Amino acid sequence: MSADTLRIRVAGPRDTDAIVRIVNEAYLVEAFFVAGDRVSPAEVQELIARGEVLVAEQHGTVVGCIETSVHGDHGYFGMLAVATSAQKRGIGRRLIDAAEQRAREAGCRVMDIKVVNLRHELFPFYERLGYRRVGTGPYVHRPVHQPVHMVLMQKPL
Ligand SMILES: CC(C)(COP(=O)(O)OP(=O)(O)OC[C@H]1O[C@@H](n2cnc3c(N)ncnc32)[C@H](O)[C@@H]1OP(=O)(O)O)[C@@H](O)C(=O)NCCC(=O)NCCS
Repeated sequence: MSADTLRIRVAGPRDTDAIVRIVNEAYLVEAFFVAGDRVSPAEVQELIARGEVLVAEQHGTVVGCIETSVHGDHGYFGMLAVATSAQKRGIGRRLIDAAEQRAREAGCRVMDIKVVNLRHELFPFYERLGYRRVGTGPYVHRPVHQPVHMVLMQKPL
């Protein structure tokens, strides 16, 4: 399937189940340091109610999502996930582009992200997109079975 048929839109309540399924399946890649689901339906419902989730849809099926919010002149994105069957076709990059564009339109000058320090493979990906490491912070999502922290990265918009 070509990424040309991809549509990115703001998520609504009816997208909750697809988002929960895609995120929790995609984040199984983190099972080596953390157990359990990355998100609950209640957490996703709350983000959707705040208008802070975008979904990528292809032929009527949700294939990816991203959480994105605005904090003064900083934008933030997280919970980036693409269905495992649809990865490596440019959908993740398109979701990031959409989140960055949304932040720009809201007047943001900088985009913030937090990357788990143990996910070494992600740093070159974000660096190629223009993100640079600026600090560290705690990992807050779930109980972990080895030491882990977040690396804060930023990109000028
Ligand atoms: C990370 C993720 C969203 C990427 O989505 P995707 O649609 O497969 O990514 P794309 O096809 O747009 O690829 C974009 C770039 O990332 C690279 N990339 C994608 N997945 C990668 C991975 N697991 N490891 C290393 N590089 C990866 C691609 O090679 C590509 O780089 P290039 O264009 O410079 O060659 C997807 O792998 C995913 O859902 N992972 C599990 C959840 C996760 O880790 N989220 C991010 C947490 S910060």
